[in-house]
Amino acid sequence: MTELTQETLSELQVLAEAALTSSTNLDELSAAEAEALGKKSALTGLKKQLGGLEPEQRKEFGQLINATKSAIEATAAARRTELAQAARLVQLEEERLDLTELREEVKRGHYHLVTQARDRLEDVFVAMGFKVAEGPEVETAWYNFEALNIPDWHPARGSFDTIFVDLGEPEEVMLRSHTSPVQIRTMENQKPPIYIVAPGRTFRTDVADATHLPAFNQIEGLVIDRGITLGDLAGTIDAFVKAFFGHDVLTRLRPSYFPFTEPSAEFDISRADGSWLELGGCGMVHPNVLANCGIDPDEWQGFAFGFGIDRLAVMRYQLDDIRELVNNDVRFLRQF
Ligand code: PHE
Repeated sequence: MTELTQETLSELQVLAEAALTSSTNLDELSAAEAEALGKKSALTGLKKQLGGLEPEQRKEFGQLINATKSAIEATAAARRTELAQAARLVQLEEERLDLTELREEVKRGHYHLVTQARDRLEDVFVAMGFKVAEGPEVETAWYNFEALNIPDWHPARGSFDTIFVDLGEPEEVMLRSHTSPVQIRTMENQKPPIYIVAPGRTFRTDVADATHLPAFNQIEGLVIDRGITLGDLAGTIDAFVKAFFGHDVLTRLRPSYFPFTEPSAEFDISRADGSWLELGGCGMVHPNVLANCGIDPDEWQGFAFGFGIDRLAVMRYQLDDIRELVNNDVRFLRQF
């Protein structure tokens, strides 16, 4: 049996503390603690010897044993805190979310291809010296028709397949059927010279099919200045088409009719196989339209042109069906 001496107690303490501090996890620590302080521990064994001592010595060794026990307990507690902290760090590391990796995974959105086409068109025209103008999507008969030289008896009104809004007099308020009302609003508010393009949404009663949408987008160009001729119109259209589609694409004008332009024309662009594709309408601004906006037709002349942006996107990306543009199928949209 180990003798109860001060040396024995210090030895026990040194050994126990060495075991405690060298434990590498909480299980090892608990085992070392049980070994040092448990029922079968050497310390407990020594404590049993107290009973056989003189009262003086019993008191002295009792205190010594308790101090040893407290010291060992304190060491165990300190080591427990250390190990718990280490375990927490390991857990944090394991559970860490690697956000850099996650960010690579996230797919970024992008503009719809019609918006992309509109932006590119604006860029081309702005580079040519035009400003971008906008107007309301809900219009009155004055802006959508009358000021554009389409009085209410005019047969051309019917050809616009207008969607009327139930407001005011019958057929007085409507969803604009073209972006031409923006011409009128601009000429009313601005003195010439005027060089604008007006992109925006337009509406007609068309039933959606492979080549039609009831809500679509147009871009309209308007130039008002002195000495403007049909040659300026043809040259502007050719310059824009070459900037947008490429320098080998040709343009041509074919006589046509619009109430707000005189003379009027359709303009076509050439395809790779040599055939022609109709893009839009154009012409010299009708003197009545200038007069309606308070501009003297003897002093100022101008031209205007307009075409569909959605159709342009269909042509550019060779889509089979214009409805793809509004189906909002991300598998389709992601391709552009
Ligand atoms: N506004 C006409 C349309 O939508 C297009 C056009 C614009 C024609 C400008 C001539 C001049 O059909």
